[in-house]
Amino acid sequence: MTDMKQFLTGLPKVELHLHIEGSLEPELMFEIGKRNGLDLPFDSVEAVRAAYNFHNLQEFLDIYYQGAQVLLKEQDFYDMTMAYLKRCQAQHVRHTELFFDPQTHTDRGIEIGVVFQGITRALKDAQAQWGISSQLILCFLRHLSAEAAMDTLEAALPYREHFIGVGLDSSEVGHPPEKFKAVFERALTEGLLTVAHAGEEGPPDYIWQALDLLKVSRIDHGVRCAEDDLLVKRLVDTNMPLTVCPLSNIRLCVFREMGDHNILSLLERGVRVTVNSDDPAYFGGYMNENFLALLEGLQLSAQQAVTLVRNGIDASFISDARRQALHAELDAYVKGVDLSSLN
Ligand code: ADE
Ligand code: ZN
Repeated sequence: MTDMKQFLTGLPKVELHLHIEGSLEPELMFEIGKRNGLDLPFDSVEAVRAAYNFHNLQEFLDIYYQGAQVLLKEQDFYDMTMAYLKRCQAQHVRHTELFFDPQTHTDRGIEIGVVFQGITRALKDAQAQWGISSQLILCFLRHLSAEAAMDTLEAALPYREHFIGVGLDSSEVGHPPEKFKAVFERALTEGLLTVAHAGEEGPPDYIWQALDLLKVSRIDHGVRCAEDDLLVKRLVDTNMPLTVCPLSNIRLCVFREMGDHNILSLLERGVRVTVNSDDPAYFGGYMNENFLALLEGLQLSAQQAVTLVRNGIDASFISDARRQALHAELDAYVKGVDLSSLN
């Protein structure tokens, strides 16, 4: 078991579902709030953590948007992003694709360029210092209007070189993908890739819509696909990746406990599932904690873990050369290890 834990934590990994605002740890939230002269509605770091007791997605989102309010300056976005990338370095995450929510900031009067500059400067530094590659994905807040999403895309286009795609997040139920068809069409004409949160709390129909109307290259979460056999067949036949976030799903009560999670049964049915942390500062862990939770709750095997990482590499928005390099790094790590002996 110890060997297996070592094996999982040392695996060279990729992360494809990470909200950078969800990586803001309470300590850094306080530090940034203080230097910006803001009063937080909490007395201490411990009080913040004690408030992280969610029963559904909305309860989390309410507190997550509140936490992001400390972010005002370019340096704040840089520090938050760099803190996440340091965790990547410590946890052997070799490539990461980050979501950011510009509307959470522009609606508070912050220039979108400030957000872009702070995040991308940290991404560049992490590439230079640690060889961590990354991509940025701009998410539209689906509880806001389709017009606001279109305005956000327009405002972001001067920074087109800094992001590879667009996504859809925030309150899912009542805000189906079809609401954002026009803005996703526009993004596709700009050569952007598309992804969408679907089937986290929302029904399988939202996954169908994301595939057919938003032309997504990946589904974020997607775990409710299991309720629709035809949909699972479509996902398998098209090799469509799901960016699954195990600890998030437990913290937001999508599943009651890890033993009930369907990630490994989807894997065994041939769905291209991947492991990700979503909002690690809020959900109790980064990539390694997610893999360890799958070991603990679902008896994840070493072979399954390697397949999950390979799925992530294959589902990444990267060049063929980088994909080959990541596979080679994984091959070298696994070479000589008797995977069955670890189980
Ligand atoms: N924004 C940040 N995390 C999210 C999640 N898990 N679902 C929807 N929107 C989000
Ligand atoms: Zn998410």
